[in-house]
Amino acid sequence: MDVFYSVKANSNLSVLRHLKELGAGFDVVSGGELLRVLAAGADPSRVSFAGVAKTAEELLLAVKHDVIVHVESAEEVPRLQEAAASLGRRARFGIRINPGVKVDTLVHMQTGSDRAKFGVTSEVATSLLDRVVAGEFPDLVPLGVHMHVGSMVPEPADMVRAAAVLVDVLRHGRESGLTTMRRLDLGGGFPISYDGAALPSPADFAAALEPLLEGLDADLVLEPGRYIAGPAGVLVTSVTLTKRPAGRRMVLVDTGMHHFVRPALYQAAHRILPLEERPSAGPAEVVGPICESTDQLAPAADLPDLAPGDLLAVMDTGAYGMVMASNYNNQPRPPEIVVSGGQARVARRRETWQDLLMYEE
Ligand code: LLP
Repeated sequence: MDVFYSVKANSNLSVLRHLKELGAGFDVVSGGELLRVLAAGADPSRVSFAGVAKTAEELLLAVKHDVIVHVESAEEVPRLQEAAASLGRRARFGIRINPGVKVDTLVHMQTGSDRAKFGVTSEVATSLLDRVVAGEFPDLVPLGVHMHVGSMVPEPADMVRAAAVLVDVLRHGRESGLTTMRRLDLGGGFPISYDGAALPSPADFAAALEPLLEGLDADLVLEPGRYIAGPAGVLVTSVTLTKRPAGRRMVLVDTGMHHFVRPALYQAAHRILPLEERPSAGPAEVVGPICESTDQLAPAADLPDLAPGDLLAVMDTGAYGMVMASNYNNQPRPPEIVVSGGQARVARRRETWQDLLMYEE
Protein backbone atom coordinates (compact mmCIF):
# COMPACT_ATOMS: atom_id res chain seq x y z
CA MET A 1 0.00 0.00 0.00
CA ASP A 2 1.27 3.41 -0.92
CA VAL A 3 0.23 6.86 0.32
CA PHE A 4 0.00 9.76 -2.12
CA TYR A 5 -0.84 12.62 0.26
CA SER A 6 -3.58 14.91 -1.07
CA VAL A 7 -1.75 18.21 -1.28
CA LYS A 8 -4.94 20.30 -1.42
CA ALA A 9 -5.53 19.64 2.28
CA ASN A 10 -2.41 21.52 3.41
CA SER A 11 0.31 22.51 0.99
CA ASN A 12 2.74 24.28 3.30
CA LEU A 13 6.27 23.45 2.08
CA SER A 14 7.40 22.34 5.54
CA VAL A 15 4.48 19.90 5.72
CA LEU A 16 5.28 18.57 2.23
CA ARG A 17 8.98 18.14 3.04
CA HIS A 18 8.14 16.31 6.25
CA LEU A 19 5.73 13.94 4.49
CA LYS A 20 8.29 13.31 1.76
CA GLU A 21 10.83 12.35 4.44
CA LEU A 22 8.27 9.91 5.81
CA GLY A 23 8.03 8.30 2.36
CA ALA A 24 4.79 9.76 0.98
CA GLY A 25 4.05 10.41 -2.68
CA PHE A 26 1.73 13.30 -3.58
CA ASP A 27 -1.57 13.85 -5.36
CA VAL A 28 -1.87 17.32 -6.89
CA VAL A 29 -4.71 19.05 -8.70
CA SER A 30 -3.08 22.06 -10.34
CA GLY A 31 0.13 23.26 -11.92
CA GLY A 32 0.66 25.35 -8.79
CA GLU A 33 0.47 22.30 -6.51
CA LEU A 34 2.75 20.37 -8.86
CA LEU A 35 5.46 23.05 -8.76
CA ARG A 36 5.06 23.23 -4.99
CA VAL A 37 5.70 19.49 -4.43
CA LEU A 38 8.67 19.67 -6.79
CA ALA A 39 9.98 22.63 -4.76
CA ALA A 40 9.62 20.44 -1.67
CA GLY A 41 11.85 17.85 -3.35
CA ALA A 42 9.20 15.30 -4.36
CA ASP A 43 10.18 12.48 -6.70
CA PRO A 44 8.02 13.24 -9.79
CA SER A 45 7.51 9.54 -10.49
CA ARG A 46 5.63 9.46 -7.16
CA VAL A 47 3.27 12.30 -8.00
CA SER A 48 -0.21 11.99 -9.52
CA PHE A 49 -2.13 14.87 -11.07
CA ALA A 50 -5.95 14.80 -10.98
CA GLY A 51 -8.30 17.60 -12.02
CA VAL A 52 -11.40 17.86 -14.19
CA ALA A 53 -10.23 20.79 -16.28
CA LYS A 54 -6.48 20.69 -16.63
CA THR A 55 -5.31 23.32 -19.06
CA ALA A 56 -3.01 22.56 -22.01
CA GLU A 57 -0.22 24.24 -20.07
CA GLU A 58 -0.81 22.02 -17.04
CA LEU A 59 -0.82 18.87 -19.20
CA LEU A 60 2.50 19.89 -20.76
CA LEU A 61 3.97 20.56 -17.32
CA ALA A 62 2.78 17.16 -16.08
CA VAL A 63 4.21 15.29 -19.09
CA LYS A 64 7.47 17.22 -18.92
CA HIS A 65 7.94 16.13 -15.30
CA ASP A 66 6.71 12.59 -16.01
CA VAL A 67 4.06 12.58 -13.30
CA ILE A 68 1.04 10.27 -13.46
CA VAL A 69 -1.90 12.08 -15.05
CA HIS A 70 -5.34 11.04 -13.87
CA VAL A 71 -7.59 11.75 -16.83
CA GLU A 72 -11.15 12.68 -15.92
CA SER A 73 -12.90 12.57 -19.32
CA ALA A 74 -12.64 10.81 -22.68
CA GLU A 75 -12.07 14.24 -24.19
CA GLU A 76 -8.95 14.74 -22.12
CA VAL A 77 -7.14 11.66 -23.46
CA PRO A 78 -6.41 12.98 -26.99
CA ARG A 79 -5.25 16.23 -25.34
CA LEU A 80 -2.79 14.24 -23.22
CA GLN A 81 -1.65 12.26 -26.28
CA GLU A 82 -1.04 15.55 -28.08
CA ALA A 83 0.96 16.96 -25.16
CA ALA A 84 3.11 13.80 -25.04
CA ALA A 85 3.69 13.76 -28.81
CA SER A 86 4.61 17.44 -28.87
CA LEU A 87 7.28 16.85 -26.24
CA GLY A 88 8.46 13.59 -27.79
CA ARG A 89 7.76 11.75 -24.55
CA ARG A 90 5.51 9.02 -23.25
CA ALA A 91 2.92 9.99 -20.66
CA ARG A 92 1.88 7.69 -17.83
CA PHE A 93 -1.76 7.97 -16.96
CA GLY A 94 -4.58 6.55 -14.85
CA ILE A 95 -8.31 6.86 -15.44
CA ARG A 96 -10.43 8.52 -12.78
CA ILE A 97 -13.63 6.53 -12.60
CA ASN A 98 -16.83 7.84 -11.19
CA PRO A 99 -18.26 4.61 -9.77
CA GLY A 100 -21.77 6.04 -9.50
CA VAL A 101 -21.90 5.28 -5.79
CA LYS A 102 -23.54 7.87 -3.60
CA VAL A 103 -21.67 8.24 -0.35
CA ASP A 104 -23.66 9.44 2.58
CA THR A 105 -21.47 12.41 3.49
CA LEU A 106 -22.19 16.15 3.41
CA VAL A 107 -23.70 16.97 0.02
CA HIS A 108 -20.86 19.40 -0.73
CA MET A 109 -18.33 16.65 -0.30
CA GLN A 110 -19.94 14.03 -2.54
CA THR A 111 -17.87 13.42 -5.61
CA GLY A 112 -18.66 9.88 -6.69
CA SER A 113 -22.37 10.04 -7.53
CA ASP A 114 -23.32 9.79 -11.20
CA ARG A 115 -24.16 13.49 -11.37
CA ALA A 116 -20.78 14.69 -10.12
CA LYS A 117 -18.43 16.43 -12.55
CA PHE A 118 -15.53 14.15 -11.69
CA GLY A 119 -14.20 11.19 -13.68
CA VAL A 120 -15.79 8.90 -16.28
CA THR A 121 -18.18 5.98 -16.00
CA SER A 122 -16.74 2.47 -15.99
CA GLU A 123 -18.14 2.01 -19.53
CA VAL A 124 -16.22 5.02 -20.81
CA ALA A 125 -13.12 3.80 -18.96
CA THR A 126 -13.21 0.35 -20.58
CA SER A 127 -13.77 1.84 -24.02
CA LEU A 128 -10.79 4.16 -23.47
CA LEU A 129 -8.63 1.16 -22.60
CA ASP A 130 -9.86 -0.60 -25.75
CA ARG A 131 -8.77 2.43 -27.77
CA VAL A 132 -5.33 2.25 -26.13
CA VAL A 133 -5.10 -1.44 -27.08
CA ALA A 134 -6.10 -0.54 -30.64
CA GLY A 135 -3.10 1.81 -30.82
CA GLU A 136 -5.04 5.08 -30.92
CA PHE A 137 -2.86 6.74 -28.25
CA PRO A 138 0.68 5.55 -29.07
CA ASP A 139 2.44 7.78 -26.52
CA LEU A 140 0.26 6.99 -23.51
CA VAL A 141 1.04 4.29 -20.93
CA PRO A 142 -1.96 3.23 -18.83
CA LEU A 143 -0.99 2.59 -15.21
CA GLY A 144 -4.34 1.96 -13.60
CA VAL A 145 -7.57 3.32 -12.23
CA HIS A 146 -8.43 6.01 -9.72
CA MET A 147 -11.42 7.25 -7.75
CA HIS A 148 -12.24 9.64 -4.95
CA VAL A 149 -15.80 9.11 -3.83
CA GLY A 150 -15.92 11.93 -1.34
CA SER A 151 -14.54 13.27 1.88
CA MET A 152 -15.52 12.17 5.37
CA VAL A 153 -16.70 8.79 4.00
CA PRO A 154 -18.81 7.47 6.88
CA GLU A 155 -19.19 3.84 5.78
CA PRO A 156 -16.36 1.52 4.67
CA ALA A 157 -18.97 -0.50 2.73
CA ASP A 158 -19.53 2.51 0.42
CA MET A 159 -15.86 2.54 -0.46
CA VAL A 160 -15.89 -1.21 -1.09
CA ARG A 161 -18.86 -0.95 -3.50
CA ALA A 162 -17.11 1.80 -5.40
CA ALA A 163 -13.74 0.01 -5.42
CA ALA A 164 -15.40 -3.09 -6.89
CA VAL A 165 -16.31 -1.04 -9.98
CA LEU A 166 -12.64 -0.05 -10.36
CA VAL A 167 -11.39 -3.60 -9.92
CA ASP A 168 -13.56 -4.72 -12.85
CA VAL A 169 -12.04 -2.06 -15.11
CA LEU A 170 -8.51 -2.92 -13.96
CA ARG A 171 -9.14 -6.59 -14.77
CA HIS A 172 -10.58 -5.68 -18.17
CA GLY A 173 -7.43 -3.71 -18.99
CA ARG A 174 -5.12 -6.51 -17.98
CA GLU A 175 -7.13 -9.13 -19.80
CA SER A 176 -6.79 -6.96 -22.90
CA GLY A 177 -3.01 -7.24 -22.59
CA LEU A 178 -2.26 -3.94 -20.84
CA THR A 179 0.31 -5.35 -18.42
CA THR A 180 1.27 -1.90 -17.10
CA MET A 181 -2.18 -1.61 -15.47
CA ARG A 182 -1.30 -2.16 -11.81
CA ARG A 183 -2.44 0.87 -9.84
CA LEU A 184 -5.65 0.76 -7.87
CA ASP A 185 -5.94 4.26 -6.40
CA LEU A 186 -8.91 4.57 -4.06
CA GLY A 187 -8.47 8.28 -3.33
CA GLY A 188 -8.91 9.96 0.02
CA GLY A 189 -11.87 10.31 2.32
CA PHE A 190 -10.94 8.79 5.68
CA PRO A 191 -13.08 10.72 8.17
CA ILE A 192 -11.81 12.52 11.25
CA SER A 193 -13.95 13.25 14.24
CA TYR A 194 -14.43 16.98 14.73
CA ASP A 195 -16.70 16.53 17.75
CA GLY A 196 -15.36 13.40 19.42
CA ALA A 197 -18.03 11.04 17.98
CA ALA A 198 -16.75 7.58 16.99
CA LEU A 199 -15.98 7.07 13.28
CA PRO A 200 -14.53 4.18 11.27
CA SER A 201 -10.71 4.11 11.26
CA PRO A 202 -8.38 3.29 8.36
CA ALA A 203 -8.10 -0.21 9.87
CA ASP A 204 -11.89 -0.60 9.53
CA PHE A 205 -11.63 0.43 5.87
CA ALA A 206 -8.75 -2.02 5.34
CA ALA A 207 -10.73 -4.88 6.88
CA ALA A 208 -13.74 -4.11 4.69
CA LEU A 209 -11.62 -3.92 1.52
CA GLU A 210 -9.58 -7.04 2.16
CA PRO A 211 -11.89 -9.62 0.53
CA LEU A 212 -12.12 -7.53 -2.65
CA LEU A 213 -8.35 -7.09 -2.92
CA GLU A 214 -7.47 -10.69 -2.07
CA GLY A 215 -5.44 -12.22 -4.88
CA LEU A 216 -5.76 -9.16 -7.12
CA ASP A 217 -2.00 -8.54 -7.37
CA ALA A 218 -2.39 -4.78 -7.77
CA ASP A 219 -0.60 -1.80 -6.23
CA LEU A 220 -3.01 -0.19 -3.80
CA VAL A 221 -2.69 3.58 -3.46
CA LEU A 222 -4.57 5.90 -1.07
CA GLU A 223 -4.71 9.71 -1.12
CA PRO A 224 -5.57 10.82 2.39
CA GLY A 225 -5.55 14.55 3.03
CA ARG A 226 -7.69 15.44 6.03
CA TYR A 227 -6.76 12.32 8.02
CA ILE A 228 -3.10 13.35 7.95
CA ALA A 229 -3.29 17.13 8.18
CA GLY A 230 -6.60 17.89 9.94
CA PRO A 231 -5.92 17.00 13.58
CA ALA A 232 -2.31 18.22 13.24
CA GLY A 233 -3.31 21.88 13.08
CA VAL A 234 -5.04 24.48 15.25
CA LEU A 235 -5.94 28.06 14.44
CA VAL A 236 -5.00 30.32 17.35
CA THR A 237 -6.94 33.55 17.59
CA SER A 238 -7.08 36.44 19.98
CA VAL A 239 -10.25 37.90 21.46
CA THR A 240 -10.79 41.45 20.19
CA LEU A 241 -13.81 42.23 22.36
CA THR A 242 -16.97 40.71 23.75
CA LYS A 243 -20.50 42.08 23.59
CA ARG A 244 -24.07 41.12 24.41
CA PRO A 245 -26.42 41.88 21.51
CA ALA A 246 -29.99 41.21 22.68
CA GLY A 247 -28.58 39.66 25.84
CA ARG A 248 -26.69 36.92 23.94
CA ARG A 249 -23.05 36.29 24.71
CA MET A 250 -20.87 37.13 21.72
CA VAL A 251 -17.08 36.82 21.38
CA LEU A 252 -15.44 38.74 18.55
CA VAL A 253 -12.03 37.45 17.47
CA ASP A 254 -9.27 38.42 15.05
CA THR A 255 -9.88 35.53 12.66
CA GLY A 256 -12.93 34.39 10.74
CA MET A 257 -14.22 33.09 7.44
CA HIS A 258 -11.37 34.74 5.53
CA HIS A 259 -8.82 32.56 7.32
CA PHE A 260 -10.98 29.52 7.97
CA VAL A 261 -14.00 29.13 5.74
CA ARG A 262 -15.28 25.64 6.68
CA PRO A 263 -17.88 26.80 9.24
CA ALA A 264 -19.30 29.41 6.85
CA LEU A 265 -19.10 27.18 3.77
CA TYR A 266 -20.24 23.81 5.14
CA GLN A 267 -21.66 24.66 8.57
CA ALA A 268 -18.70 22.60 9.80
CA ALA A 269 -18.55 22.40 13.60
CA HIS A 270 -15.04 22.83 15.00
CA ARG A 271 -14.42 22.84 18.72
CA ILE A 272 -13.10 26.12 20.12
CA LEU A 273 -11.05 25.89 23.30
CA PRO A 274 -9.44 28.55 25.50
CA LEU A 275 -5.65 28.25 25.61
CA GLU A 276 -5.82 28.76 29.34
CA GLU A 277 -8.17 26.28 30.98
CA ARG A 278 -10.84 28.01 33.11
CA PRO A 279 -14.36 27.09 34.21
CA SER A 280 -17.04 27.46 31.56
CA ALA A 281 -19.34 30.48 31.56
CA GLY A 282 -21.78 28.81 29.16
CA PRO A 283 -22.29 28.99 25.41
CA ALA A 284 -20.99 31.93 23.38
CA GLU A 285 -21.29 32.79 19.71
CA VAL A 286 -17.81 33.24 18.21
CA VAL A 287 -17.63 35.59 15.24
CA GLY A 288 -14.95 37.25 13.13
CA PRO A 289 -14.34 40.76 11.80
CA ILE A 290 -15.63 40.22 8.23
CA CYS A 291 -18.61 42.22 7.00
CA GLU A 292 -20.81 39.18 6.34
CA SER A 293 -23.28 37.60 8.71
CA THR A 294 -21.94 34.15 7.70
CA ASP A 295 -18.66 35.08 9.37
CA GLN A 296 -19.30 32.89 12.37
CA LEU A 297 -16.82 30.33 13.70
CA ALA A 298 -19.22 28.68 16.15
CA PRO A 299 -22.86 29.36 17.08
CA ALA A 300 -22.47 28.20 20.68
CA ALA A 301 -18.99 27.36 21.93
CA ASP A 302 -18.65 26.44 25.57
CA LEU A 303 -16.22 29.09 26.82
CA PRO A 304 -15.06 30.75 30.05
CA ASP A 305 -15.45 34.46 30.67
CA LEU A 306 -13.15 36.14 28.20
CA ALA A 307 -11.39 39.49 27.97
CA PRO A 308 -9.66 41.20 25.02
CA GLY A 309 -6.33 39.51 24.31
CA ASP A 310 -7.35 36.08 25.59
CA LEU A 311 -6.33 33.32 23.20
CA LEU A 312 -8.61 30.65 21.74
CA ALA A 313 -7.79 27.62 19.60
CA VAL A 314 -10.08 26.54 16.76
CA MET A 315 -9.37 22.82 16.69
CA ASP A 316 -8.59 20.43 13.80
CA THR A 317 -7.91 23.15 11.27
CA GLY A 318 -4.79 21.61 9.72
CA ALA A 319 -6.71 20.43 6.63
CA TYR A 320 -8.61 22.80 4.33
CA GLY A 321 -7.64 25.70 6.52
CA MET A 322 -4.88 27.96 5.23
CA VAL A 323 -5.23 26.50 1.70
CA MET A 324 -8.76 27.92 1.52
CA ALA A 325 -7.94 31.23 3.20
CA SER A 326 -8.45 34.49 1.35
CA ASN A 327 -7.70 38.18 1.72
CA TYR A 328 -11.39 39.15 1.76
CA ASN A 329 -11.90 42.60 3.27
CA ASN A 330 -8.18 43.08 2.60
CA GLN A 331 -7.29 41.12 5.67
CA PRO A 332 -3.74 39.74 5.68
CA ARG A 333 -3.43 36.01 6.26
CA PRO A 334 -1.86 34.72 9.51
CA PRO A 335 1.55 33.06 9.81
CA GLU A 336 1.91 29.27 9.86
CA ILE A 337 3.92 27.90 12.77
CA VAL A 338 5.36 24.40 12.75
CA VAL A 339 5.75 22.79 16.15
CA SER A 340 7.94 19.74 16.28
CA GLY A 341 9.70 18.07 19.18
CA GLY A 342 8.76 20.95 21.48
CA GLN A 343 10.28 23.53 19.11
CA ALA A 344 8.21 26.14 17.27
CA ARG A 345 9.28 27.94 14.10
CA VAL A 346 7.62 30.21 11.58
CA ALA A 347 7.07 28.13 8.42
CA ARG A 348 5.25 30.91 6.58
CA ARG A 349 5.48 34.49 7.70
CA ARG A 350 2.51 36.66 8.61
CA GLU A 351 1.22 38.76 5.72
CA THR A 352 1.28 42.51 6.14
CA TRP A 353 -1.04 45.25 4.89
CA GLN A 354 1.79 46.22 2.55
CA ASP A 355 1.84 42.70 1.06
CA LEU A 356 -1.74 43.18 -0.05
CA LEU A 357 -0.67 45.90 -2.49
CA MET A 358 2.13 44.00 -4.18
CA TYR A 359 0.32 42.54 -7.21
CA GLU A 360 -1.07 45.82 -8.45
CA GLU A 361 0.44 48.74 -10.33
N1 LLP B 1 -8.01 12.75 -3.65
C1 LLP B 1 -8.77 13.53 -4.44
C2 LLP B 1 -8.78 13.32 -5.88
C3 LLP B 1 -9.58 14.54 -3.85
O1 LLP B 1 -10.33 15.30 -4.64
C4 LLP B 1 -9.55 14.73 -2.45
C5 LLP B 1 -10.37 15.77 -1.82
C6 LLP B 1 -8.70 13.91 -1.69
C7 LLP B 1 -7.95 12.93 -2.32
C8 LLP B 1 -8.54 14.06 -0.19
O2 LLP B 1 -9.70 13.87 0.53
P1 LLP B 1 -9.66 13.79 2.14
O3 LLP B 1 -8.85 12.56 2.51
O4 LLP B 1 -9.01 15.01 2.62
O5 LLP B 1 -11.08 13.69 2.52
N2 LLP B 1 -12.72 21.51 1.28
C9 LLP B 1 -13.46 20.37 1.80
C10 LLP B 1 -12.97 19.07 1.30
C11 LLP B 1 -12.93 18.94 -0.20
C12 LLP B 1 -12.07 17.78 -0.60
C13 LLP B 1 -11.95 17.63 -2.04
N3 LLP B 1 -11.14 16.53 -2.47
C14 LLP B 1 -13.44 20.47 3.32
O6 LLP B 1 -13.04 21.49 3.86
O7 LLP B 1 -13.88 19.54 3.99
